[in-house]
Amino acid sequence: MLRRTLLTSIAATPILAACATEGQTGPAVDPMAPLPEDNSSYARPAEARVSHVSLDLNADFERKVFSGTCKLTIAARPDAREIVLDNKGLVIRSVKSNGRDLQYTVGTHHEVLGAPMTVQLDGAREIEIDYESRPDASALQWLTPEQTASHKHYLFSQGQAIHNRSWIPTQDSPGIRQTYDARIVVSGDPKVVMSAEMLTPNGEDAGDGKRAFRFRMPQRIPPYLIAIAIGDLTHRDISQRAGVYTEPSVIDAAAAECVDMENMMRVAETLYGEYRWGRYDVLVLPPSFPYGGMENPRLTFLTPTFIAGDRSLVNLIAHELAHSWSGNLVTNAVWGDSWLNEGFTTYIEGRIDEELFGTERARMAEVLSWAALQRTLQTAEPGQTILHQNPGPGEDGPPSTIVYDKGAWMLRTIERIVGRTQIDTYLRSYFDRHAFQPMTSEWFLADIREHLVRGNAELESQLMLDQWVYQPGLPSNAQEPTATGFNEVAQAVTAFTNGGAPSQAWANWSTAQRQRYLQTLPRELPRARLDALQNAYGLNTIGNMEVRYDWLILAINNRYAPSEAAIETFLTSQGRGKFIRPIYAALMAQGDWGQGLARRIYARARAGYHPIVQVGADRIVNPS
Ligand code: BES
Ligand code: ZN
Repeated sequence: MLRRTLLTSIAATPILAACATEGQTGPAVDPMAPLPEDNSSYARPAEARVSHVSLDLNADFERKVFSGTCKLTIAARPDAREIVLDNKGLVIRSVKSNGRDLQYTVGTHHEVLGAPMTVQLDGAREIEIDYESRPDASALQWLTPEQTASHKHYLFSQGQAIHNRSWIPTQDSPGIRQTYDARIVVSGDPKVVMSAEMLTPNGEDAGDGKRAFRFRMPQRIPPYLIAIAIGDLTHRDISQRAGVYTEPSVIDAAAAECVDMENMMRVAETLYGEYRWGRYDVLVLPPSFPYGGMENPRLTFLTPTFIAGDRSLVNLIAHELAHSWSGNLVTNAVWGDSWLNEGFTTYIEGRIDEELFGTERARMAEVLSWAALQRTLQTAEPGQTILHQNPGPGEDGPPSTIVYDKGAWMLRTIERIVGRTQIDTYLRSYFDRHAFQPMTSEWFLADIREHLVRGNAELESQLMLDQWVYQPGLPSNAQEPTATGFNEVAQAVTAFTNGGAPSQAWANWSTAQRQRYLQTLPRELPRARLDALQNAYGLNTIGNMEVRYDWLILAINNRYAPSEAAIETFLTSQGRGKFIRPIYAALMAQGDWGQGLARRIYARARAGYHPIVQVGADRIVNPS
């Protein structure tokens, strides 16, 4: 009964129109469908939720702020008097509806969550907020010209998990899906790109030497996927619907590395159904980008460190592309269930990798992932190894090896038990059934029981679904993978450990084999043995950053002074958190030598890191 009243009241608002146009891409969904509680957001979606965001912002590089308006379209219960938004440090100038001022309050600021911003609706279902972001907004990195290849200003955003509230006043919860449009004004000639359809490829004259770029995202997305970059950008097509954006001096190398994009899309579509987002471009960012990749819809953001010159790290693109199904189409409703995004995606990444580059390469990746998972299982608190978690407000979930590797292992185990045809059919139907909707561990388990297990008691007990999701460690049906390509690596490690020379086979090894070699060499090596490795392979300057990282960890563990300059270069030439944090942590564990080095390098490098990485590294290098 209540439901019917809700739907009738909403029918008068533009929301229904938005749903109707989505008929092409997914079923119309009740805009007030129930959501689990998200303790990382102040929103109260059962009462009122944002359904559309319309930005009109000026990017001010001098002051490092966005300034302008954000119009929100709201779906609300008929009796809702207020809406609660997430606001992390935004300077609010006014909130209006149809030119009329609305009352609002901003509550106490929390360092991670920001503050609740409560607007008295007074019947309004569309509100306009006039505001400005702060120069230290945690989602934004305003780069100085020296930090870019083109030596021009550059800006990019990183929304996941809860940073977009530092530049957009909306409800920042992954279950509250929103469509968006934007008009972004810049001075001079930089280009603006967003995770949306580009309506003005070359911008429009906005007077005063300014240009305006307009965008539209007609599909409902979780708000952490709203993303922007501004800089000296050029574009090259890879296929009719796929392409690459970079600064001009990087475009040749990037395009060469990205040639497999269209093939990856076809593999994913064959497995999981149509790619529903129109174009698929990647943006290769300056080196301070804090992640390997970020799956912003239509426009994946990538670290330039994925350019190895031999396409050996393109699984990163496969991963971000896979999020077009797992994550962007079907989305974890709360961050404690992020394995539903990342574990599924890691599984799909492996399937794409296997189809494109063969089973051996895929098996080797699985063995590396299994080894990383075992290291975590041995060191982490048991409670930290559970897939479904309920972290406190703004707190981190489980370690990434649990979310990614244990999560993927659950799906690989299901695959082994039911067979590929069955799991592929099931996953494809799962993405169709839940397209453009949030997901929880509980809903997923109910869905797989209904559509795959179907009351088969024997299958139910073989799968151990509840153990996988709710218990620590690995269930007994997880099987250790093997890869024949690692047999010769194991022999080479033994030979070196027994005093032999570094393996000559290195020259022909793949990235995974090189990583396996460096990861399984004895953790303690005398200086002469490290010299032998460095002299044979030039590891201090090797172009593949994953390999160089594994080497530097080994070097640091042995306080190997000849790598000091290489450590400094590594920490100052890129800002990927996955590399940066463990390197500083390894240094800090090495007494005066490592701590002195870490502090000296950090003093110089910190300003170049993204705010997200600064926070993590501050804790490591300057522990309070
Ligand atoms: N969505 C993640 C990046 C992310 C995770 C941002 C958590 C913020 C919080 C992205 O898809 C990812 O997993 N990137 C990996 C790539 C990899 C596993 C191939 C990365 O950045 O290392
Ligand atoms: Zn991911």
